[in-house]
Amino acid sequence: MAETPSPKQAAGYAAAKLVETGMKIGLGTGTTVAFFLEALAERIGQEKLEVIGVATSVQTAELARELGIPISDLEHYPALDLVIDGADEVDPQFRLIKGGGGALLREKIVAAASAKVAIIIGSGKRVDRLGTTFLLPVEVIPFGHATTRDCVAKAGGCTPYVRTTEEGEPFVTDNGNYILDCRFKNGIADPEKLHADLSQIPGVAEVGLFLNLCDIVFEGQDDGSVVTLNR
Ligand code: A5P
Repeated sequence: MAETPSPKQAAGYAAAKLVETGMKIGLGTGTTVAFFLEALAERIGQEKLEVIGVATSVQTAELARELGIPISDLEHYPALDLVIDGADEVDPQFRLIKGGGGALLREKIVAAASAKVAIIIGSGKRVDRLGTTFLLPVEVIPFGHATTRDCVAKAGGCTPYVRTTEEGEPFVTDNGNYILDCRFKNGIADPEKLHADLSQIPGVAEVGLFLNLCDIVFEGQDDGSVVTLNR
């Protein structure tokens, strides 16, 4: 690791210390997780740690394989010891917005399968109210997505935008779905109610609100140190 790591790098390396030999570990998705994978690969090489990883995205599975991290799936390991993943926003109640990378559905399944959920973030992601610095991603099936979008707007009191690629095509998730990025004028007043309301809409595959799914947060700082927050 560089002498003064970036905040994301510092968080990723700190969380890698949670891993113990024999663990089945969920591997999150994103730029911060990439540092965690690097740190985990180093520990596997140096300490001969024996672990099995379950990836939350095709991108993470590829990176893990490149780094020599053994990979399996939830069919073989339905219950995991730990997942380490990133987040887009974290509020004081340890509620999260996730899905900036479009992997929210698999990330939530893996988080729910894990005995412990550790979140790694760089600076600037802790907020007083969710939805104030980041749009809320909602994964929807492509069939009837314009209807689903209108239902999400009405039920959520928000403005949803279909996420697109640089070519202007709808962004397609690993599950073959689309993402609605939802703007809330004054943030999300009641995340639990919003989650319940949006989850009822036909066509919604998953909502990027992670409630009761975070046990510990590692927040990297600009000076390379890490603040650890236990729920
Ligand atoms: C992936 O879908 C997301 O939930 C990421 O974990 C989140 O967007 C954080 O990404 P970075 O670590 O790249 O900021």
